[in-house]
Amino acid sequence: MNLEKKELNPNNPFLPEPARIVRMYPLTDDVKFFQVRIADMEKALSFKYHAGQFAMVSVLGAGEAPFSISSTPSRPGLLEFCIRKTGTVTNALFKLKENDLLGIRGPYGNGFPVEMMKGKDILIVMGGLGAAPLRSVLLYCLDNRDQFRRVILLHGAKRPAEMIFREEFFALKQREDLECCLAVDEDDTGQWTENIGVVTTLFPQIKDIDPKKTYSLVCGPPVMYKFVLKELLKLNIPKDQILMTLERRMKCGVGKCGHCAIDYIYTCLDGPVFTYWDVIHMRELI
Ligand SMILES: Cc1cc2nc3c(=O)[nH]c(=O)nc-3n(C[C@H](O)[C@H](O)[C@H](O)COP(=O)(O)OP(=O)(O)OC[C@H]3O[C@@H](n4cnc5c(N)ncnc54)[C@H](O)[C@@H]3O)c2cc1C
Ligand code: FES
Repeated sequence: MNLEKKELNPNNPFLPEPARIVRMYPLTDDVKFFQVRIADMEKALSFKYHAGQFAMVSVLGAGEAPFSISSTPSRPGLLEFCIRKTGTVTNALFKLKENDLLGIRGPYGNGFPVEMMKGKDILIVMGGLGAAPLRSVLLYCLDNRDQFRRVILLHGAKRPAEMIFREEFFALKQREDLECCLAVDEDDTGQWTENIGVVTTLFPQIKDIDPKKTYSLVCGPPVMYKFVLKELLKLNIPKDQILMTLERRMKCGVGKCGHCAIDYIYTCLDGPVFTYWDVIHMRELI
């Protein structure tokens, strides 16, 4: 075997970029927030992405996995992820500390069509970890507030302690240019001041929706989609203006391995954002 040290091929699309963890802290019992900066400053600043895209995050010796980018492209330099501990890679990520290195490659996927959403009302419905990709587009809309009409956020969690970005969303409730409605299925603290019930119980709080001028963005646990979609259709929001970000098993992220394929669709390239219209025609997407 030739053990001579070889230069890495810079054109290898699977080569991760070393990135340093700037901040990390728990969001819930099993979800952590990671703020990272690509170590090469020039590359950190030139890492351009769209809200709704994902990156492959790797830990040396453990492997890599796809995660939605939770930060907004309107604040370049730092990338944020919120990651639930489920298995090999996420366990290894949870063992890292601030200042440690991990690997990033991407960004991948289509992201939200923000250019088409400009000038429209934006209704964001998130449940549980669905906050990870939707926080990116929410912050983008707020950073470019004059480019959108109403911005409405409906966010549901099982219990107060399980609401991801709880403090951040409570702070956003103070904004007059955002209609922010929060709910928990069950209050085990006795101190919850917002709605109690599943996320769909928040729909009566939003009045005077102009369906043709509304884009709705949805992400949450599989069970949530059926009920949220029913509410959105009741509001007469056109099916091609209901956008969902969906997760499939992915390996390469770049349309090479076929792990994420459903018929002719590669969800890593054609997704993870799909319209309800796409989903009706490709039932396997959910
Ligand atoms: C586009 C995209 C965006 C994602 N964004 C996020 C995010 O922002 N935050 C986050 O925490 N997770 C996200 N995920 C899921 C994340 O990729 C998986 O949790 C991760 O791959 C688990 O890796 P692991 O090695 O820790 O688990 P493994 O050891 O591979 O698996 C542990 C368990 O999780 C299940 N599992 C693994 N991957 C998936 C998956 N993709 N969907 C459903 N079940 C899975 C396995 O069946 C197994 O039961 C996203 C997935 C995709 C495809
Ligand atoms: S993840 Fe490999 S083709 Fe999509």
